[in-house]
Amino acid sequence: MKVHELVARFAKAGESSAAMTAARAELDALRGDVGAIEQALRYISGTGGNARQVFYRSPTITLLKVCFPNGRRTPPHTHGAWAQILLLSGEEKNTLYRRENGRLRKAGEMTLKPGSVLPMLAETAHVAECIGNVPAIGLHVYGGDVLNLPRQMWNPETMEEHALDWTLYEKFAQAASKAASAPAP
Ligand SMILES: [Fe+2]
Repeated sequence: MKVHELVARFAKAGESSAAMTAARAELDALRGDVGAIEQALRYISGTGGNARQVFYRSPTITLLKVCFPNGRRTPPHTHGAWAQILLLSGEEKNTLYRRENGRLRKAGEMTLKPGSVLPMLAETAHVAECIGNVPAIGLHVYGGDVLNLPRQMWNPETMEEHALDWTLYEKFAQAASKAASAPAP
C-alpha cells in the first residue's frame, strides 16, 4: 500500500455525488489491510489529529492519520463535515453526542478495534479516547477541507460550547484526559 494509492481512492470518492457512501465503501474495502495502511503512514509522526497529520486535503475530502497515546482523551468536538474513522491499531473508545435544545446529549458509544469503521454525520459530536496500553492509530476521512470548516468543541468540565481553537482545544484535551470518563450529560 502506497500513500498515493490511498489518496487516489479517497480523492475519487470525494468527487462522488454521494461522497460519504463512496468513502465508506473504500474504508470497508480496506478493513483487511490495516497493517499495510499503518505501515504506509508510519512517516507521519505526532499525536492527536492536528494539521501536521493531514496528508491530503481538498474542498471535498481530508485524510489524516490520528494517533492517541495511552490516556489521551479529546474534548467533545465536531468536524464541520461528515467524518469516518478506520482504526488501524490499538483500541479507541468513542462517545457520541447530539444537540438537544442547544446542549449536547450523549447518544451512544462505540469501541473500535483494528478494522472497525465509525461513520459520523456532520452534526455528530464525539469524544475519542485511547483505551489499552498501546496508541490508538486511525485513518480519519472528512467530507470537506477540515482545516477551513467551522467546527465546534465543548469544555469537558462545563460543557460550554466554543468555536474550535487549537490552543484552547489542547487545554480541553488535557482536562478531558484527566477525567475518569467522557462527559455523559
Ligand atoms: Fe474527531
